Amino acid sequence: MNAARARPAELRLRAGGADDLDDVMRIMTDAFPPCFGEAWTRSQCAGILPLAGVSLTMADHDQHAIGFALARTIMDESELLLIAVEVAGQGQGAGRLLVEDFIAQARAQGASRLHLEVRDGNSAVSLYQSAGFVPAGRRRAYYKAADGRRHDAVTLVLVR
Ligand SMILES: CC(C)(COP(=O)(O)OP(=O)(O)OC[C@H]1O[C@@H](n2cnc3c(N)ncnc32)[C@H](O)[C@@H]1OP(=O)(O)O)[C@@H](O)C(=O)NCCC(=O)NCCS
Repeated sequence: MNAARARPAELRLRAGGADDLDDVMRIMTDAFPPCFGEAWTRSQCAGILPLAGVSLTMADHDQHAIGFALARTIMDESELLLIAVEVAGQGQGAGRLLVEDFIAQARAQGASRLHLEVRDGNSAVSLYQSAGFVPAGRRRAYYKAADGRRHDAVTLVLVR
């Protein structure tokens, strides 16, 4: 299914900022299972937002924030740092729309190498691969889960 084509008309993307931190944390807390240690803290998010090349994109449904993507572009490289959609809003195309927008924004800024890291086993991998990302590496024991177990991160890249 092409979710971007089928998305509800009320689903809109917009540039976010520090004023959106409450929504970012609400969505992140809801979307990321706490057991895997993938979510960022509020201070991590607040700290990275003002840095050069960092962009936050919010997905609103009927003026309610349901998702976001955080990215950083440096020179010709762009990294998707975080993406999340609140559980109640998942499966309606917001995630794909945010990934496609990340790709479009990165290319518009001249990035030729797009990359991201995701926990091995995260079902988001299929979303990234369907957008053209391919596996390029692995960081062993990158994520520390609540139970102390370690999970690998897979690096995915999209090179034009
Ligand atoms: C990953 C995530 C952002 C996807 O958001 P979403 O709004 O549900 O995604 P979409 O509705 O646009 O679906 C995109 C595609 O991925 C697939 N997909 C989404 N979630 C899936 C899941 N849990 N299992 C399998 N496939 C999934 C959909 O089938 C869809 O494919 P299609 O377009 O061919 O039908 C969302 O599941 C999420 O917030 N997960 C928790 C946070 C996370 O792990 N983020 C990634 C690491 S930073």
